[in-house]
Amino acid sequence: MSNSHSDALVFFGATGDLAYKKIFPALQAMIKRGHLNVPVIGVAKAGWTLDQLRARAHDSLEKHGGVDAAAFEKLSSLLRYVDGDYNDAATFQALAKELKGVQRPAHYLAIPPAMFEEVLDQLAKYGGATGARVIVEKPFGHDLESARHLNKVLLRTFDESAIFRIDHYLGKRPVNNVVVFRFANPFMEAFWNRNYIESVQITMAEDFGVQGRGAFYDETGAIRDVIQNHLFQILCNLAMEAPARTDSESVRDEKAKVLKAIPSLEEKDLVRGQFRGYLDEKGVAPDSKVETFAAVRVEVHSLRWYGVPFYIRAGKNLPVTCTEVVCRLKRPPAVIPVDLLSSNYFRFRISPGLAIAIGATLMAEGEKLAGEATEIVASEHPDPGEMDAYERVLGDAMAGDATLFAREDYVEEAWRIVDPVLKKATPVYVYEPGSWGPNEAVRVTPPGGWKNPVVGDEPPAASSRAA
Ligand code: BG6
Repeated sequence: MSNSHSDALVFFGATGDLAYKKIFPALQAMIKRGHLNVPVIGVAKAGWTLDQLRARAHDSLEKHGGVDAAAFEKLSSLLRYVDGDYNDAATFQALAKELKGVQRPAHYLAIPPAMFEEVLDQLAKYGGATGARVIVEKPFGHDLESARHLNKVLLRTFDESAIFRIDHYLGKRPVNNVVVFRFANPFMEAFWNRNYIESVQITMAEDFGVQGRGAFYDETGAIRDVIQNHLFQILCNLAMEAPARTDSESVRDEKAKVLKAIPSLEEKDLVRGQFRGYLDEKGVAPDSKVETFAAVRVEVHSLRWYGVPFYIRAGKNLPVTCTEVVCRLKRPPAVIPVDLLSSNYFRFRISPGLAIAIGATLMAEGEKLAGEATEIVASEHPDPGEMDAYERVLGDAMAGDATLFAREDYVEEAWRIVDPVLKKATPVYVYEPGSWGPNEAVRVTPPGGWKNPVVGDEPPAASSRAA
């Protein structure tokens, strides 16, 4: 497939929640940067007119980031709308009309996966797939088997190079910074391995519940929602080897290798929790056993990481909203008294903002020989002008750059790792909203404990950036 830019964006699910929250703001931002100048064709079954879609876009922007009058005017002029059922040929005939003269449309499936097959088959039938790219939202399947099936369905119509499986975490600069920081700074290589690192922990905490998405969430749960995708991507960035080249396939090869080196999870590697009150959420089954919290332990059986446990935990209704990585270093031999030592660790803050910190022991003030725990921090506050993850991934997909997307083998490996525990009815322990999950999570806890992220005490950006 040629690498030329897509000359139209078609988004299925135009009247849906994702379009409202993420896609319209991303489109406006692309326009503001001068990155979008092609027709944007919304498709949905809502009985709407184009003007109603424009009004929806306006409303979405008001709620999510604000309306930029000039950019909105441009977006309105680029917008088209096709209303109809996904199983109705007329919908795709109408779409084909809108696509007349378009060579490389990008079809963005912002719809439930159960509808993918229908849409793809109709696109193939009515010529919409020729020269096209397809962008698919997560969740990519429900388990290993359904992901394999979805891949088969996609590959029936599209070449792998034309398939862009979204994981919006890959559009976040701090996630990619993990790789850049590791490979751009030679001191990292000296200790970034099993000889020095004792354990790695990744926490994705959210201080809110399911936010009206009960019906979706109750089919999903924390493992499928964020661990199998977003947090495995972070794990790969932490654990991968430097790619031989910087092209998308070389990078994605290295990530897939990390997952291949991870044995599938067993029950003992997992604790699941559910916040008290979840069962009262709209759309949630009254006896639901779906987890809103999970802590897992994985191992990466590579030369670099063999024997180093990686702990991942994610949860809704935890005390803060923050995603962070802490890599603890082993203790030194007892050349100074062990009780003087505090934990020596490396910390990557993924959000909010970006921070890199080293936890270390200093000699405390005073005459007595005593140690004092300290952190050396470099941090940035979120930059309001920074590209949002959706803007970045949509732009990359339309430009044909697959680096930030999950490849077929990658998604299947990710499902292979979690599949066995998803199939088992492991216990779900209740936890109080605002706590760090159920007490039973202690069973899957890194040596030295979880380091709970603290939000709001970062040093001011300017002073911490002084070099
Ligand atoms: C989504 C999940 O993929 O990621 C949500 O479905 C989660 O449950 C969200 O809240 C977190 O994304 P971000 O970008 O807000 O950290």
